[in-house]
Amino acid sequence: MPVDLHNERPLAWDSATLDADTKAMLDNLQPNILRAHVREHLSVLFVRFNDVAEGRAFLRGIATTKMKSARRHLEEVRDFATGRRRGTPYVGIGISKAGYRDLGHSVEDVRKFGDPVFRDGMKRRVGVVADPPVEQWERAYQREIHAVILIGDADPGPVERLREEILGDLPESARLLGEERGQGMRNPAGDGIEHFGYVDGRSQPLFLKDEVDREPKKHWDPAFPLASVLVPDPFAPNPLRHHGSYLVFRKLEQNVRAFKEIERDLADALGLAGADRPRAGAMLVGRFKDGTPLTVKPKAGGGPVSNDFTFDGDDGSRCPFSGHVRKTNPRSFGREVLMARRGQTYGERTDDPSDDSPPENRPSAEVGLLFMAFNGSLLDQFEFTQQTWADNPDFEVPATGHDPVIGQGDRDVKVTFPKVWGEPEQSVPQTQVAQTVTMKGGEYFFAPSLAYLRNL
Ligand code: HEM
Repeated sequence: MPVDLHNERPLAWDSATLDADTKAMLDNLQPNILRAHVREHLSVLFVRFNDVAEGRAFLRGIATTKMKSARRHLEEVRDFATGRRRGTPYVGIGISKAGYRDLGHSVEDVRKFGDPVFRDGMKRRVGVVADPPVEQWERAYQREIHAVILIGDADPGPVERLREEILGDLPESARLLGEERGQGMRNPAGDGIEHFGYVDGRSQPLFLKDEVDREPKKHWDPAFPLASVLVPDPFAPNPLRHHGSYLVFRKLEQNVRAFKEIERDLADALGLAGADRPRAGAMLVGRFKDGTPLTVKPKAGGGPVSNDFTFDGDDGSRCPFSGHVRKTNPRSFGREVLMARRGQTYGERTDDPSDDSPPENRPSAEVGLLFMAFNGSLLDQFEFTQQTWADNPDFEVPATGHDPVIGQGDRDVKVTFPKVWGEPEQSVPQTQVAQTVTMKGGEYFFAPSLAYLRNL
């Protein structure tokens, strides 16, 4: 029986009774899709091929000698948890629509991809998601990218070694168009943070029974069907057993100094003093820096970062409708939109992103997020989130404003904020906070099955 991607029950991947098709699926799926792979140190290589046979041989070589399957990754995580041994590095591959063409697939063939957004490529979608014009993107992204190669590990050594090997195998005909380096950042509690200093990566759609079982779920069910991230791989030997995932990559620069000034000015404008001041930033993100959801508590603190909450009963007087996590996951509807985020921060910091030092000590450029997410549909997940929710000042209620973190487009609507947590009184209408995240380039890829890559 083909794998039922719409089954609501999380996958018991190591159950003895797992059927042959699901096993084959896991043996042919890239890691980091169903479950996040460690990528504390990350190299992202953007490649252009220019020769069908050499391009194919290059990818086949990586797939057969350097990539593990999703199942192997899950076994490694299990073995690591029981103290047995450390895992191996992650190597992942994504191919753009132009890449498929350059690997010898016809225009007709590429139409087999059901996702029109993938078939367009990111450059053609600029108008839809209010991205900057392509001429303003960094040079590498202005070019025609054929493939992305992701190399990640907990330590820098294995990433360097694999990167050297892979670049050494790059054929004469191919070009390395660009490279990004990701580097995880953590707060004193050990949680991963992004450059504005907030815990990131906590809320994810979960697909595997062991991960779902560990989560409290009184309010929010973190279990999602595989269809949120998997589709049959149209060019694999057996698309019913061999799956892939649409990968969105966006380099998002963060102006940390400006964001910190905005937090300060908003706290001043709302008259927030002392221990109440961090609520200004929490109203923009929807969580406090330590990850505490603003809809649950007026102040940060109180143990492990919770994800077991909804916004039910919150009319915007606790967490504004515009708060980033509320805009991008309203939780009472639109579950099918949630994607598996697998990004990583980039750029060196000389300051400590998790402390309270003033805005002037913060970087205004050269740092940000390599936003990456796996989707079953770029149209209905990533682009829907960006266009219909984040960029829309009237979602979820009229005149709530853009997503203050990632919203793009003119911010002409005036907005209000609750003055006291949980009380109806709102501030006087004010101009929306300025945009502090700038898209520097990106592309849409398909992360094909290992079966496809090994057969190239
Ligand atoms: C959650 C920051 C870009 C979608 C979060 C969280 C933070 C954050 C701090 C809370 C942690 C968590 O709940 O896991 C940022 C920053 C970004 C960025 C600084 C850019 C530099 C994006 C983009 C999208 C997005 C481009 C999609 C279009 C989401 C989603 C969640 C989230 C879906 C989880 C919401 C939930 O399920 O509660 N982000 N983010 N983010 N972000 Fe972003």
